[in-house]
Amino acid sequence: MTVQPLLSVRHLTTEFQLAGKQIARALEDVSFDVMPGKTIGLVGESGCGKTTTLMSIMRLLPASGRITSGNVYFNGIDLLTLSEHEMRAHRWKEMSIIFQGAMNALNPVMKIGDQIREAILLHNLMPRNAAEQRVGELLELVGIPRLRRDLYPHQYSGGMRQRAMIAMALACSPDLLFADEPTTALDVMIQAQVLELLKEIQKKLGLAIVLVTHDLGVVAEMCDDVVVMYGGKVAEYGSAELVYNQPQHPYTQRLLEAFPDLSRSIDSSTDLATIPGTPPRLNALPPGCRFSPRCHKSMEICTQIAPDLIAQNTAGNAQHLAACHLLNKLEIKNS
Ligand SMILES: Nc1ncnc2c1ncn2[C@@H]1O[C@H](COP(=O)(O)OP(=O)(O)OP(=O)(O)O)[C@@H](O)[C@H]1O
Ligand code: SF4
Ligand SMILES: [Mg+2]
Repeated sequence: MTVQPLLSVRHLTTEFQLAGKQIARALEDVSFDVMPGKTIGLVGESGCGKTTTLMSIMRLLPASGRITSGNVYFNGIDLLTLSEHEMRAHRWKEMSIIFQGAMNALNPVMKIGDQIREAILLHNLMPRNAAEQRVGELLELVGIPRLRRDLYPHQYSGGMRQRAMIAMALACSPDLLFADEPTTALDVMIQAQVLELLKEIQKKLGLAIVLVTHDLGVVAEMCDDVVVMYGGKVAEYGSAELVYNQPQHPYTQRLLEAFPDLSRSIDSSTDLATIPGTPPRLNALPPGCRFSPRCHKSMEICTQIAPDLIAQNTAGNAQHLAACHLLNKLEIKNS
């Protein structure tokens, strides 16, 4: 029996209204699948659209953001066709998110346990007395002793605060968890513990995870599939094994050359910026391939026509796609 994706993102395009009525297209034609119980990594430099992808799927974009086309199927239902009221049946309850930098946004004057309880009550899950029981269960799930529910955020270490955020995101037992840079601010030892915890919880609950990270070592360690994004588009997408062992897109190749030792975790200060040049500004996107100003393999066609995302030769059922003119030999011959 073929397993159906839990989440299918299709041709997602999101724009932001900037000052002076200028429009910036932050995502263009983004597609990928998330399988039940699996982990997919979203990777790419700062500003490539990782957070915008998650916020678009959760329908939590700020007022200046708008999804202009595409579909987001969750269990076969297109979330983009739902009213806000209908969407509430899915958001937090079936899909949940640990926001980027969230552990630093905990309320400093409220006990951790109370903050988790308020999250449960906010989603109308259960009466107040039952919610208290659930707080204890959630804390235990993330490895925090129940007795620590009465401590304040400043009495928790960074790793403990992130565990509390994970507990909060799991309050409604979702099937899918978006984790936006969940370990970036933590030191390497604690990063490893938090990732291990996510893996354990995934196994226990059968959770699917979309993991946003700058760290290719983390992707190699954690992910079944990977989406490499560049300038708001998908540059390469496939099983982590294929993308790592047979990278097709020059951008992915450069990323992997920059971090040859994938078993070694890096911190965010030494992130992907080691590739010469800077990512494109959304209000000044280059014509053709968005990577062309930085690509060591750029050809004439690259500055004129954007490459399509096309399937690469792979054995068996493994999926592997990349968007680069070099990979479409017929197109180059005819150009
Ligand atoms: N509220 C907003 N208004 C205007 N532009 C925005 C807004 N939010 C994001 N953008 C733009 O959309 C693009 C994608 O941003 P996004 O935050 O999704 O990137 P990211 O990949 O998550 O980056 P990082 O790794 O730094 O978190 C960026 O160019 C950003 O400036
Ligand atoms: S399409 Fe051209 S510029 Fe873009 S990645 Fe491929 S070779 Fe480089
Ligand atoms: Mg982000």
